[in-house]
Formats: sequence, C-alpha cells, structure tokens
Amino acid sequence: ENIPLELHKVRVVQKLHLVPIERRLDAIKEAGFNTFRLSTADVFLDMLTDSGTNAMSDNQIAAMFRADDAYAGSQSFARLQQAVEEVLGKKYLLPVHQGRAAENIICRRYVKPGHVVPMNYHFTTSLAHILENGGRAAELLRDEALELKSENPFKGNMDIDKLVKCIEENGVENIPFIRMEASTNLIGGQPFSIANLMDVRRVADKYGLMLVLDASLLGENAYLVKQREAEWKENSMADIIKMMTGLADLVYFSARKLSSSRGGGICTNRLELFKEMEALIPLYEGFLTYGGISVREIEAMAVGLYETLDETMISQSPSFIAYLVREMEKRGIPVVTPPGVLGAHVDAMKFCSHIPQTEYPAGALAAAFYLISGIRGMERGTVSSVRDENGVEILADVELLRLAVPRRVFTLSQIKYVIDRMQWLYDNRELIGGLRFTYEPPVLRFFMGGLEPT
Ligand code: F0G
Repeated sequence: ENIPLELHKVRVVQKLHLVPIERRLDAIKEAGFNTFRLSTADVFLDMLTDSGTNAMSDNQIAAMFRADDAYAGSQSFARLQQAVEEVLGKKYLLPVHQGRAAENIICRRYVKPGHVVPMNYHFTTSLAHILENGGRAAELLRDEALELKSENPFKGNMDIDKLVKCIEENGVENIPFIRMEASTNLIGGQPFSIANLMDVRRVADKYGLMLVLDASLLGENAYLVKQREAEWKENSMADIIKMMTGLADLVYFSARKLSSSRGGGICTNRLELFKEMEALIPLYEGFLTYGGISVREIEAMAVGLYETLDETMISQSPSFIAYLVREMEKRGIPVVTPPGVLGAHVDAMKFCSHIPQTEYPAGALAAAFYLISGIRGMERGTVSSVRDENGVEILADVELLRLAVPRRVFTLSQIKYVIDRMQWLYDNRELIGGLRFTYEPPVLRFFMGGLEPT
C-alpha cells in the first residue's frame, strides 16, 4: 500500500464538530442544498477548498509578528517584493487582495468588448471578469483532457494547433493575451508540462501576444512536472518554478492558494506592463505597498513563497490526494485520474448516471455526501457554470464533486473516513435525487444560490 506520510507535526489544533445526521439534514436544507452556505459548526471535514485553508507554518506565524504597519513604504512589502523576485523571478509587483482582484485589474486593463482570450481552461472567477469586460474565453485543451479516467500526465496542456487556429480566426488584434492556468483547477487540478508552456510561448512570440500565467497552483504544478516530465526530474523546485514564470510576461496569483495565507499579486519584469496597471491598484485595492492585504498576511505570503520551494511541504497535498484517488478507484468509485492537485474529484455524471445533467448531478452529490458524512465538498459542474445571453443553461463539460485536500490539514485516518463514507454512498447511490434552483444570483451563482430536490 502506498501510504502517504505526514512530514510535519501537529502543534496547534482546532476542534471539529461531527453533528448527528438529523442536524445535518436540517443544515443542508437551511443551506439551500448548497455546501457554500453551510456553517462550519455543522461541518466535520471541510473539503470545500484549499483557498485560505492550507495549514500555516510556524515560520509564517512568527513572521506575522514582525509586520511593519505602514500605509506606505512598509518593510513587509519590501520583503514580499524580494520573495517574489527570488522565487518567481519577477522584479515588479502589484499587490491585490486576492486572485480575482488580479483578474479584475488585468481584464479591466486589457480585455475590450469583442475580445477573445485563448486559455487552456477557464476558472470561474477568471471567466467572470473576462465576460464582465465584454470578452469571451476560448478553451483550447486537447480533446482527451476531458476524458476523466485517463493516465495522461499533463491534461492541462494547451492544444497548440487549436491555439494557432484561434488566433488566425479571430485576428491578433482581438486577442488581448493568452492565459495559461497552472494545475488547471476545473478539470481536476491537472498540470501542464514545461514543454507545452514553451510551445505556447513560441506561438505568443510569433504573433506578438502577451502570455499571462495564473500561478495560483504553481507550486503543485511544478512538483508534478518534477514527478512526471522526464527532462525536469533532476531539477530543483526553484529551477522549475523560475522556468515556468520566466516564460510568461505577466504572472498573477491567489496567495490564498500559492502561499497558504491571504492576498494576491500581479508581477512582471516588463516595466511598461507594470505601469499600464499601476494606477488601478490604488483605485480598487489600496496603496501600492499593501493592495488591500494586511501587513501581517504580507509577511506570511513572503515566507509561504519560499516554502513553496520545499518539496517536503509541497508534496503533502498531492501525495494525500493520490492515496485518496487510488483508494476510491480500487473500490470502483468513478474519480478523475491521474490524481492531480488541490483535491480528489469524483465524476458525478457516472456516480449519479440516473440524474440528468439539467438537474445538477454534482450539486446533488455534494449535498448527499455532506448529509451522510458531515464532509463538505464543492460542486464543480453546471451549478458553477453560467447561462448564455438567451438565458439558456451552458452545461458544464464535466460534473465533478471536488474534495479539497488542503496542505497539511487532514490526517490519514480522516482521509480513510472520506473513503469509507464515499464507498457507502456509492453503494447506495440510487438514493440521490436531482436539484433545481429556487434562488439564482445573476453572477457567480454557485456561491450563494439556493436549490431544492426536484
Ligand atoms: N485562479 C485559480 C486557478 C483559482 O483556483 C482561484 C481560486 C482564483 C484564480 C481566484 O482566486 O479566490 O483568491 O480570488 N480558487 C478557489 C478554489 C476559490 O476554491 O478553487 P481568489
């Protein structure tokens, strides 16, 4: 058995609540069958996300105490700038309060009505900001990337032929930038290879286009490159990360994921790009040396960036995910393979093959799994999608229940509990029914939307 090993010890703990099933039934009803709306007082294992929930290290907490509180010119910010330069290899840094704030700034500045943004795949907030500015996304994964059961090591790769075709068809003037997302979140945390990123760079150069890298899950993508891309086996995490960021003109990130704290940033070595966005930071985020982030969190971000280079730290989440995925697979539960980053992803379309996609199988599975286990996962399917301009539902390419495994948070026995409960639900899957919306917000509806059983 390939048992993952915790390479850290637990020194601060938080009590969990495993409430009885009767309470869980009331709780999920009160939450409109939407796990985002549950209170953690009713949640046993919170596998909603890794965003801001990765464990902090002793060194991060310690650094928070030396934070330099200053509106302008804070030394904490100088330390973050230095970390960004040393780890990501970028000199100029614009701080923002989280990842989507970076997307807001970048899209406001570069996306105009009618524009098309070629990307490996969208993330919910990145797409929302492109749409908000009148643009649209062209998703250019290779066709096999959507085969959920697969051993393709780099499902996050962009299809280079599709990219060239997209540029030729839409015209360079209608393309503000190419976006590559590290560890492509919505298809199951699947990485791209460095060889592929180099190919994308060559196309960008050929057409004079800017390449933007969403680095929110960069550390894990780099780790999987080291594991899966033969040419990079002997390289350090530092080399691999710098190689990836070096290929992009602009790098942005959610520090809630990248460095396990809060905040975000946009960084570049091209001064003219920095200047083009600079004025938007004080307008939307805060002064240029804090960008809406507390100075304490800025210190934690800086330390967290250096820790991203530590393989014993960065390997934790992927190795626990691999265990969880392979154990579920052994039991016949349909899961996304190969195991990726961020979490394990259950294929709800197969799991709930009796529920039509218009009745949100992934949302139904998320609610049912909470009910029978107290574990909170996240729907990543059609509830997380959008409607087209005529109000017609755009069915998601994949219907997934994501069970996030934040770094260094859960123990192996807790992971075994997840497997045991999922097995029970799989054996009793015909009990799960579909859902319909009772309250549907116009933007990012999955966050606060309410549903009921059909
Ligand atoms: N890009 C990617 C790839 C992300 O995964 C996220 C957030 C963002 C951008 C936005 O960053 O939340 O700091 O504004 N992903 C979280 C998740 C929310 O649960 O997957 P943010």
